[in-house]
Amino acid sequence: MTDHDLSIVVEGLRKKYGAKQALDGLDLAVRTGTVHAVLGPNGAGKTTAVRILATLLRPDKGRVEVAGLDARARSREVRSRIGLLGQHAAVDEKLSGRQNLEMFGRLYRLGARGARARAQELLDRFGLADTGTKAVEQYSGGMRRRLDLAASLIAAPGVLFLDEPTTGLDPRGRTEVWNSVRSLVDGGTTVLLTTQYLEEADQLADRISVIDHGKVIADGTADELKASTGGDRIDVVLRDPAQLARAALLVPGDPVIDADRRMVSAAVGDRIIALTETVRALSDNGIDAEDIAIRRPTLDEVFLHLTKEHAA
Ligand SMILES: Nc1ncnc2c1ncn2[C@@H]1O[C@H](COP(=O)(O)OP(=O)(O)OP(=O)(O)O)[C@@H](O)[C@H]1O
Ligand SMILES: [Mg+2]
Repeated sequence: MTDHDLSIVVEGLRKKYGAKQALDGLDLAVRTGTVHAVLGPNGAGKTTAVRILATLLRPDKGRVEVAGLDARARSREVRSRIGLLGQHAAVDEKLSGRQNLEMFGRLYRLGARGARARAQELLDRFGLADTGTKAVEQYSGGMRRRLDLAASLIAAPGVLFLDEPTTGLDPRGRTEVWNSVRSLVDGGTTVLLTTQYLEEADQLADRISVIDHGKVIADGTADELKASTGGDRIDVVLRDPAQLARAALLVPGDPVIDADRRMVSAAVGDRIIALTETVRALSDNGIDAEDIAIRRPTLDEVFLHLTKEHAA
């Protein structure tokens, strides 16, 4: 892969706020036309990275290239090729969705007619045409976020930055935004999104960079990350929750109890051996299982594993 195929390149990015090292040698490479998730907990440096990429903040050190351009030296040109959906929205509450989009269009010098046409196109695309005259303060969370997304696309950017696009949304709002992002990517836009939701990265991203304390601690596809924690897990669901503690002593590995789901779960090496041993041990001890399943780890488990490993 050459840099030519990459819409975003970040190397050794560093940024300090006073004594706080927010970015500590961050590296990223995002292929053109793909979705890349930057996944990390509160304070990991996600917004700082996005603001630097969007040329709103200057880094202390490091290489930043967006759409083939040095983002530090050619910030104006970079700005004309990107869209940004900030963590906190920039739309005007009192105006309607249509008015907001037309206003953004005029800011981008599309002209009155151009701005009107672009607003209509985006309202249609994000399923907001019917609500186009309602003030934004009356929108649901999902509708607002879709409007934010529409606003970030006014200038038809090739590269789009989404900083926690679904934080605070209910599952339905989240699904709406996900579908909107998917349709963008089908149209060829390169997307870098930040998220604290593993499921979001799993759903949307071609590749994921897990960051903590301002640097990447793991990256790959969701599948690669899941495989990297040492493979499969076994879930044993019991009929009688009173037997959970005893079952936990019998399941191989280092099991955890999930009382709400009447479940004991553990990482396993060889799946067949683990399954056979578990079935035998439970039956020898008179413990009745409702379900036993071998499965791959969830990204949540991967994330916990990685951040624990990184802290150690
Ligand atoms: N303007 C600022 N002045 C001082 N410290 C800051 C500033 N902005 C961010 N920080 C600190 O830098 C670190 C990274 O912050 P950043 O906002 O990039 O994290 P984040 O991953 O976006 O977090 P969140 O998930 O909460 O949005 C945090 O420790 C934060 O407190
Ligand atoms: Mg943030």
